[in-house]
Amino acid sequence: MLRDVPLPLSPKQIRSIVEAQHAPIGLWSGAVSSGKTIASLLAFLIALVAAPDHGLVVVVGRSLNTIERNLIDPLQSKHLFGPLAGHVHHTTGATTATILGRTVHLVGASDARAEGRIRGATIALAYVDEATLLPHAFWMMLLSRLRVGSQSRLLATTNPDGPFHWLRKEFILRGAEVGLTNWHFTLDDNPSLDPGFVARLKAQYTGLWYRRFILGEWCLAQGSVYDMFDETRHVVDLLPYMRRWTAVGIDYGTVNPFAAVLIGHGEDNRLYAVSEYRHDSATALRQLTDAEYSRNVREWLAGVRRPGEHGAARGVRPEWIFVDPSAASFMNQLWTERVPNIAPAVNDVLDGIRSVGVALGSGLLRIHRSCTGLLGELPGYAWDEKAAERGEDKPLKMDDHSADALRYALHSTAHEWRGLIDYQEAA
Ligand SMILES: Nc1ncnc2c1ncn2[C@@H]1O[C@H](COP(=O)(O)OP(=O)(O)OP(=O)(O)O)[C@@H](O)[C@H]1O
Ligand SMILES: [Mg+2]
Repeated sequence: MLRDVPLPLSPKQIRSIVEAQHAPIGLWSGAVSSGKTIASLLAFLIALVAAPDHGLVVVVGRSLNTIERNLIDPLQSKHLFGPLAGHVHHTTGATTATILGRTVHLVGASDARAEGRIRGATIALAYVDEATLLPHAFWMMLLSRLRVGSQSRLLATTNPDGPFHWLRKEFILRGAEVGLTNWHFTLDDNPSLDPGFVARLKAQYTGLWYRRFILGEWCLAQGSVYDMFDETRHVVDLLPYMRRWTAVGIDYGTVNPFAAVLIGHGEDNRLYAVSEYRHDSATALRQLTDAEYSRNVREWLAGVRRPGEHGAARGVRPEWIFVDPSAASFMNQLWTERVPNIAPAVNDVLDGIRSVGVALGSGLLRIHRSCTGLLGELPGYAWDEKAAERGEDKPLKMDDHSADALRYALHSTAHEWRGLIDYQEAA
């Protein structure tokens, strides 16, 4: 079957495909785009032909949609799988596919009903995409449905997570005991990557994610979240003319500090944290009402000096004001006053941190020296190591107000600025 495939496979890919035919559990782990999915899908096709007739063949992913995108689409690509691609039939949205004449059940692990489809079944062959993202209980249930020791097998791919993740602790580190063979892939194991692509890929991952997704390490979320932050590189005294006033991010607090950060898109095509507003009720010895905050924010924006214009040019109208989504009362206040362009910020903490990390790491984002609250927080913004030891990645909840405001502004607009990244500079 390998002879039908037009791809020049790397030695690691070939070795994994061959060894997988004898491993009760085969795991392709490591860097992104390192060729894990292609190798594991080939191993899956071979195992499918050999799979016992009794028992189901299941493909598990986070959702039906990710299964279609990550697995069915490549399987149907002639460029990748040659004539085999013609034997992969699937109608978008259907929960089965026919692959090499055999019915394959597609199971989204986030869909509780889907789980029911395999609960009582005997499974002959299972393929799991993005294994670390599966609920632990789902993985255990899947294993219990496989007749381990017989011909049935489980093939899975994953990117690394923290060192205390259940997949590493209970399976990878106990490989011999549980019958798991792990192939660790790095970017060098994908023979198709050109240097320009690798440079772009590297620029998309910084800090913790660089170590996990580029270097392929199961590393702990520890130390500084923004370890790519470098005062000499990121802090500026002079600002260029701003083409656009991209956004303001606001982290709301009454007892805790209230922080806002203004982002501009400079004529040099970089992003700038131009100015910030902060009110710390603890040092000011006074809490402000929502109406007072609203007035202060409006006054702050009206007073921001516009760089690159004549000296007296002041006042900006940001395209968006993204507010901490939990600050409902404050958002209502702004709406009541008809402050334009208010929206709740996108508040996925880890994705947001990644966005800020990419903006910093690629050199796209610069911060004006006047943003003292933000500059004071960034170096100390750290991962919660206690949580990481429980297998959970999250930053410590402390002195993160301006950092959150920056995250709200940047992550909520990431689709607008991603294209500005200069990959040459980033590499
Ligand atoms: N031997 C090969 N020959 C040609 N192209 C390949 C080969 N192996 C992988 N590729 C291509 O390289 C890209 C990345 O490969 P693949 O999807 O297998 O990586 P991955 O390790 O699964 O990445 P991720 O962690 O992002 O899921 C894909 O576009 C794939 O088609
Ligand atoms: Mg993959």
